[in-house]
Amino acid sequence: MAYKYYKDNRAYIEALLKTGDAIVVNDEVDWDLEMGAIVRRVCEKKSPSPYFKKIKDYPGFEGFGAPIASYRKLAVSLGLDPETPIPAIAKEYLSRTAADKGQKPKILNAKDAPCKEVVWTGDEADLFRLPAPMVHEGDGGRYIGTWHFVVAKDLDTPAINWGMYRQMVFDEKTMVGPVLPFSDMGKMFYNKYAPNNIPMPFATVIGPDPLSAIASCAPAAIPEDEFTSLLMGEPVEVVKCETCDLYVPAHAEIIIEGVIVPNVMIEEAPFGEYTGYRTSPREKRTVYRVTAITMRKNPILPISNMGIPTDEGQLLRSFSLGLEMERMLRDQGIPITGVYMLPESTHHLVVVGVKPAYANIATQIGQLVFGSKLGPWFHLVVVVDDKTDIYSKDELIHNLSTRCHPKNGIIITEQGVGTPLNPYAWPEERKYSRAGKVIFDCLFPPEWPTSMVPIKVSFDNVYPKEIKEKVLSKWNQYGFKD
Ligand SMILES: Cc1cc2nc3c(=O)[nH]c(=O)nc-3n(C[C@H](O)[C@H](O)[C@H](O)COP(=O)(O)O)c2cc1C
Repeated sequence: MAYKYYKDNRAYIEALLKTGDAIVVNDEVDWDLEMGAIVRRVCEKKSPSPYFKKIKDYPGFEGFGAPIASYRKLAVSLGLDPETPIPAIAKEYLSRTAADKGQKPKILNAKDAPCKEVVWTGDEADLFRLPAPMVHEGDGGRYIGTWHFVVAKDLDTPAINWGMYRQMVFDEKTMVGPVLPFSDMGKMFYNKYAPNNIPMPFATVIGPDPLSAIASCAPAAIPEDEFTSLLMGEPVEVVKCETCDLYVPAHAEIIIEGVIVPNVMIEEAPFGEYTGYRTSPREKRTVYRVTAITMRKNPILPISNMGIPTDEGQLLRSFSLGLEMERMLRDQGIPITGVYMLPESTHHLVVVGVKPAYANIATQIGQLVFGSKLGPWFHLVVVVDDKTDIYSKDELIHNLSTRCHPKNGIIITEQGVGTPLNPYAWPEERKYSRAGKVIFDCLFPPEWPTSMVPIKVSFDNVYPKEIKEKVLSKWNQYGFKD
């Protein structure tokens, strides 16, 4: 059964305009820093997403900033009420994506695919004809891929991958960007195509429907097109590319096709990144050569502006990384109450609630999540007990400050896999993606006799049931509003 969802970026924008989570900007905006600055301020002030109707030098193009940069927008993208609380959004996501298999995409003919309304090949396929923004001052160039994904196919298996990997315009026909070696596309390209000197076909999907975008940045265990079908409750509609055998979401705004060139690298960056800093140096990175560009009429280019929280990358990566961890820990039979990764931590800190069933269960949890495929993206795991609200920052601080033993409760692994972007890391550590990992065990040792366990002094914990009920039922009568 299909869930309520938005088949394209446009229907989603309409929905956000209705809920007050987007606004129309009719003034002309400049692709050179102005659009970027607006979107940055929107993320920092948690304002509605700007729908730009006029972009300087690019008549016929529109823009859309901060597409899913809040839990309200995430709820709307899943067809839920924008007021839906985070745990309920998480429950909905987990239940939709519980199956270990999705549906194969539905293939449309080109004539029925909106993303083929305009087709540019040969000299016409020129990246400078697209309004790629200069997102932050100090960026190494204009970035066309900030909220998009790259479709690729494995060399010798049917596996396909959709993943978000930023893309900077280098010249009319060339884009460049980092593809980390432990990402799915990194493994396909660096382990199979590049050693055999075979160009790898790619298709960049810009302005997909929101569920395809969510799937593409989720650490899904199944191919992202099938994962999208789980979120939609029916197959995603795709169409074949013009110049290669890849399939792309048919309702997307813009598609850029081409090949990733083996064993040639060109310089990319700096760029304002998800950690809230500009960390990676200008360096030689992966090269994309363009063979065709197709698009809808009057395409709407989405723009994500990474920086200090909260942008959609931080929000969605935190959301899906945390929930994949939850699935994995439950599959292992660990008695967890839930997992919440804080977007404000730029997906570096995760809180796990667990019944303290046996000694060192926090260490077991930390080692499992750090040792998994998800591990490189974060380095702080806080384990709290089953009475703690994992979504409460107040409770998190209270737990860390009162229950975590400064020596025995902080378990450090000095050498783990990280990313090249960790702002605190020394240059050598960044270069080789080396990262320390820390577990904060906020569980009183289960072997302590009950008499030794400090009693938590809270409304819930230290009053008899009848007093609590009386106080709650008379709360408004006493004169309190909330
Ligand atoms: C906005 C955004 C930009 C990203 N940029 C990059 C990037 O440039 N390079 C990269 O390796 N990963 C990047 N990531 C992370 C990958 O998209 C992420 O690992 C994705 O889920 C691919 O995972 P997979 O390797 O499991 O397919 C980005 C994520 C987001 C949300």
